[in-house]
Amino acid sequence: MTIDWAFLRAAAVAAASRAYAPYSRLRVGAAGLTFDGRVVTGCNVENASYGLTLCAECGLVSALHATGPESEAPGTAPVLLAVAIVAGDGDPLLPCGRCRQLLMEAGGPKLLVDTSDGPVQLGVLLPAAFDGADVVSRRDGAPPTATTGPLTT
Ligand code: THU
Repeated sequence: MTIDWAFLRAAAVAAASRAYAPYSRLRVGAAGLTFDGRVVTGCNVENASYGLTLCAECGLVSALHATGPESEAPGTAPVLLAVAIVAGDGDPLLPCGRCRQLLMEAGGPKLLVDTSDGPVQLGVLLPAAFDGADVVSRRDGAPPTATTGPLTT
């Protein structure tokens, strides 16, 4: 699928304009393209209790699940193909560490992240990531099987 980066970035800019960021005054918008051609967005939402702040990427990932196809098996991770994250000035913003982890589960290491130097694979931004396979293989009583993808039973 061709990725229209200008469109994706514009969607992120539109989302950033709806951010609620009275404390940091840094507006952030995120827009993601799924393999089935959907575009989902999110913006940061701050709170007087600063630690409760939601990053733009959190909203995007929630929207990804909330608007996903009904036919999808429960618990199946939806797959993001590309994501653009911008600040209020319209330029790309690299995701924070927590959001790299969130995006990893939603798109995997091949997820393309828009940067000012062009698209970069998420695996470059978050190498050797912890994932569901680590949970399944390392939890109490689990046989040491190698699995990939989201948490399975
Ligand atoms: N922020 C995001 O929305 N995404 C990131 O990846 C980095 C930080 C927001 C959180 C907070 O509202 C503001 O930027 C300043 O940290």
